[in-house]
Amino acid sequence: MVAKLKDVADLAGVSVTTVSRVINNYGSLSKKTIAKVHAAMRELNYQPNALARAMQGKPSKFIGLIFPNTTNPFFAELINDLEYRLFGLGYKTIIASSAENEQIEHDYLGMLMANQVDGIISSSHNLGIREYQQISSPIVSFDRYLAGNIPIVESDNYRGGQLAAEYIMNHGGKKIAVMIDEDTSVSPTLNRVQGAVDYLTEHHANYTPLDLKRTNFTQTFPGKYDAVIATNDVQALQIRNVAKRAGKVINQDFVVTGYDGSKMIRTVAPDLPTVVQPIDQIADELIETLMAKIKDPKQDLEPKQLPVSFHDPE
Ligand code: RIB
Repeated sequence: MVAKLKDVADLAGVSVTTVSRVINNYGSLSKKTIAKVHAAMRELNYQPNALARAMQGKPSKFIGLIFPNTTNPFFAELINDLEYRLFGLGYKTIIASSAENEQIEHDYLGMLMANQVDGIISSSHNLGIREYQQISSPIVSFDRYLAGNIPIVESDNYRGGQLAAEYIMNHGGKKIAVMIDEDTSVSPTLNRVQGAVDYLTEHHANYTPLDLKRTNFTQTFPGKYDAVIATNDVQALQIRNVAKRAGKVINQDFVVTGYDGSKMIRTVAPDLPTVVQPIDQIADELIETLMAKIKDPKQDLEPKQLPVSFHDPE
């Protein structure tokens, strides 16, 4: 029976990814690990897949997609749009959920490199800038400042924050809280908070920035606020549920705005006022930018910012 990669990994007592890294000489591996893998390969007379290695000089036609998760309706829709478009261009996709876990993201990046992907689209934000600067494959970022040389596609987060604040003010918000994610990445999404706070500071007579952390919302709610600007739709619906349990009447004595406007959310919660990101255009721009990087990895590409809109359920 022909030995497989997994057989080598089992015999050497390492992961399949580690065997791939040894074969492709990728990443920081100890001499001991390399020796174990080589010994297992000899014992099993393992021959790396000639076809796969022959392709090393040719495109693998694989694209890696790294996102924090695939469960958030916004990410789910964007990943679906990307996968469909890439398939039409003859690419297969490897989807990696970094799960806000730096080690998982590190291992996935290694696996993608070992599998010779032709390019990567990443919206994750775990790793330090250094890590992303060392990646050899063409890479494009959505919504995250990954590294100076990595092109970024985003929607106009600042304008989105302003639109949400304008809606809240026009719908009776007096004691307004702006949700802030404990997002430690250097991310353009922080601009949506800034847009909201700047708008309220300029237009709201007695607005005091009552920033609300995602983690402590239920403890401080609901007496203190009659309006909340959330940083995404899922969070907005959670806030709405907390308000309902506290006896508030939504869109009467309590108003919340969301952010993203995915098809799923707009179907299950059509009455949620929310900032709509142009997910299909984001997918088009990410792929167009990545294809340009694959064609000429050295070219510098300007950041792309797409306009947002607002879904007013009335
Ligand atoms: O809901 C997920 C959020 O993370 C979206 O707003 C998207 O912009 C990403 O930053």
